[in-house]
Amino acid sequence: MCGIVGYVGPRNATEVVVGGLQRLEYRGYDSAGIAIYDGEAGLQLRRSVGKLINLVNRLNREPAAGAVGIGHTRWATHGGVTEENAHPHRDASGKIVVIQNGIVENYLELKGRLIELGYTFHSQTDTEVIAHLVGHYYTEEGALEPALCRAMAELRGGNAVVALCVDEPDTILAARLGNAGGVVLGLGEGEHFVASDIPAILDYTRDLIFLEDRELARINRNGIVITTLAGAPVRREPVRIQWDPVAAAKGDHKHFMQKEIFEQPRALMDVLRGRIDQEAGTIHLEDLKLDDAALRGIERIYATACGTAWHAALVTKFIIESLARVRVEVDYASEFRYRGPILGNDALLLAISQSGETVDTLAAMEEARSQGVPSVAIVNAIGSQAARLADGGPIYLHAGPEIGVASTKAFTSMIVAGYLFALRLAQARGTLSPAEIRTHIQALLELPGKAAEVIETTSSQCEILAERYHRATDALYLGRQVNYPIALEGALKLKEISYIHAEGYPAGEMKHGPIALIDENLPVICIAPRDSIYDKMISNIEQVKARHGQVIAIGSAGDDFLASKADDTIFIPETLPLLQPVLVSIPLQIFAYHVALLRGCDVDQPRNLAKSVTVE
Ligand code: G6P
Repeated sequence: MCGIVGYVGPRNATEVVVGGLQRLEYRGYDSAGIAIYDGEAGLQLRRSVGKLINLVNRLNREPAAGAVGIGHTRWATHGGVTEENAHPHRDASGKIVVIQNGIVENYLELKGRLIELGYTFHSQTDTEVIAHLVGHYYTEEGALEPALCRAMAELRGGNAVVALCVDEPDTILAARLGNAGGVVLGLGEGEHFVASDIPAILDYTRDLIFLEDRELARINRNGIVITTLAGAPVRREPVRIQWDPVAAAKGDHKHFMQKEIFEQPRALMDVLRGRIDQEAGTIHLEDLKLDDAALRGIERIYATACGTAWHAALVTKFIIESLARVRVEVDYASEFRYRGPILGNDALLLAISQSGETVDTLAAMEEARSQGVPSVAIVNAIGSQAARLADGGPIYLHAGPEIGVASTKAFTSMIVAGYLFALRLAQARGTLSPAEIRTHIQALLELPGKAAEVIETTSSQCEILAERYHRATDALYLGRQVNYPIALEGALKLKEISYIHAEGYPAGEMKHGPIALIDENLPVICIAPRDSIYDKMISNIEQVKARHGQVIAIGSAGDDFLASKADDTIFIPETLPLLQPVLVSIPLQIFAYHVALLRGCDVDQPRNLAKSVTVE
């Protein structure tokens, strides 16, 4: 959710912090603010409602400079989108400033207590409670670190808190509670960094340390010292991140989403890279900690995720059940954690997440851990919490940073990562013959090229279709079997970036409700590649046409029969049925992208959404 950046060193902290926030804006863009300290100018606080550009404009009018600073980009949880609610928040003395990512669940109780003690609140946020609480203990302790530790001990929920005090101006403190807020510490030469996500500081350093639950970091020019919130020393070696920071920039593309859609052939190659031994006809997942015996012992898999990643989990269920013959149940992570799941000792949790920071997904992993069930995480962000929590190991997507809020390349890479995992399971369990595994390997290797072909051949057609349908008020997406989740994903893409109401439905269920919506104005996107249920899809298309719906079909190259039934047909190359979802997704992404553009929507930062959802 919210983005956090902090800096101590010889550079102008304003530039480092604002630059970092620019990289994190996908985490929230309701407001932004910074606090910069300078010996002469003192504490300079600047906050603006709306996107970061408003803060940048404000800084142009009212510059701030100094060697120490913290900054925040907000996704509103408690309190509306106002300047008073923008972070940083100050304590009563005005000496301490605090930013937070996460939620203080008991903030009302704490706020009541602080009001009784005479504190006045200027915002509706839970973060101001932290500021006053820290300030309160600071008057007793006379030092920021014990004051912050005492305050953190009273918070319930999960969060990351970063604080700065004018009486100790060479130091930033960062503390973490629970899973809701990742904290990454960056090591430089005579300068140090803190952020909620790696891209924020990647321009300056690649040597990073991740702060864990109930730990505190003291960050100054000379170094970073980590302790637990109880004061015990923590020793942790830094990890070196290999990404290219340029990969996180937009390049020649108009939007990150467009760039990320176009990157899919490369991303699909990267998720396969090094994992297929063509000669031996085997799959190797380098970080997987489960050996053949452990893979053979799995009787059921709980696949859990949120949003687009949940759609990838639905696709993965079909793939694993078909190839490895293991039962898979798919749950929304936010539901899984509260339904008291009975997992059993022959189960595996499969968590799927682009960011590896989605709080519900992490909580599902914790639930599995508490029942002694191992978890494997299909995850993009290297070193993220999901990757670290996965005791069965992460399966990294290696898709590079995904910045557009609407997930595209991570989604298709998740499906392929799930496919590799299914083949790895099948290899261990003997559910596919070596010849069959080779057939799947061949299809996987051909997939990036076919994705490139889809982008090449369908882009302009999708643009024309967007032109025709961008004024629609609703849209229906239909698919069956493994393409049903793609109908859900197509509808989600459209609604999240263009704000058109869209529903995904299993085509066979259409007659039990959605059919009532069909008239000559309703675009109905029907996913109908040649597969075992092709004829059923054709019948469903006939049913839509009989009610004068506008059918956009997505089908297999050369399928003239389908084209004769639909108003428009988008063709995709043939591949194995379980890999079709990857290719079908691409025109749906491109269509949604163009519809959103034509409607004047902010494609990369759709309203109310955030890339990384670290609150419940
Ligand atoms: C948010 C994003 C979605 C994403 C979902 C899960 O809702 O807007 O694009 O699919 O979170 O995120 P994750 O990082 O766990 O894949």
